[in-house]
Amino acid sequence: MGDRRPIGLFDSGIGGITVFEQVRRILPDESVIYFGDSANVPYGGRPVSELVALGDRIIRFLLSKKVKIVLFACNTSSSVSIGVLRERYPVPMIGLVEPGAQMAVRATRNGKVGLIATEATVKSESYPKAVAAIAPEVRVFSSAAPALVPLVEAGKVDTPEAEEALNVYLAPLKEAGVDTLILGCTHYPFFNPLISRILGPEVVLVDPAEATTIEARKELVRRGILTSKGKVKHEFYVSGDPEEFDRLAERFSSWRLPAAKKVGESDAISLSLASMGDLC
Ligand code: DGL
Repeated sequence: MGDRRPIGLFDSGIGGITVFEQVRRILPDESVIYFGDSANVPYGGRPVSELVALGDRIIRFLLSKKVKIVLFACNTSSSVSIGVLRERYPVPMIGLVEPGAQMAVRATRNGKVGLIATEATVKSESYPKAVAAIAPEVRVFSSAAPALVPLVEAGKVDTPEAEEALNVYLAPLKEAGVDTLILGCTHYPFFNPLISRILGPEVVLVDPAEATTIEARKELVRRGILTSKGKVKHEFYVSGDPEEFDRLAERFSSWRLPAAKKVGESDAISLSLASMGDLC
């Protein structure tokens, strides 16, 4: 019969759409509750305590929607807060880092892997640690790219500004001779054409979203909670401006998505950092 409860998926904003696309492809019968924390984007420069508090509220919101599993469609949260949140809540949680690291190890031919990610993800060293656990001989060269998420959220993907920023962030990785690049933030696959232009077609771009969704599928099967065929219903929630999110979704998603709804004060998540004293 299967379990018709939805999958919860969250990101700081529109980046999670790159994971949602994989869920549509790999888990087409599953319904999704998407949460974009657009009032608090970008996550990348925030301290661990804030990221944990924001993640906590999102998990509680998703649990109020009766999700059966949570997909962290955010590398920053997958790197920084997933461990703490797994201990707090019994719902299964799947992050991007281990599946992404596995893909990169499989892809590299010269043992030099590049990583672009947010400052918080780079600082956490989640990817170098995950790669070392699988293949200690593979070296990871990291570059924090703080300007990229705001560019995506402003819809400025294929622009001279984006090219200039990427040239700066990718220069040290090019210099190091990486043959594989982990896109360590779910907002970054929107820059793929530009990145390939800068690094050259021989550098393999690794987007952890696909492997992570395959991992989520395995977990659903293992727990016996994969759904059977039926009508799917996706819902989109944001903490910021829903119309702004809809405009970006229309541009970046290959699907026609339902209009996003703003999460209100009455839901199990508050909209601002100012009122989260009890959780910090
Ligand atoms: N898309 C997220 C990630 O994968 C969050 C980036 C941000 O808000 O800084 O890290």
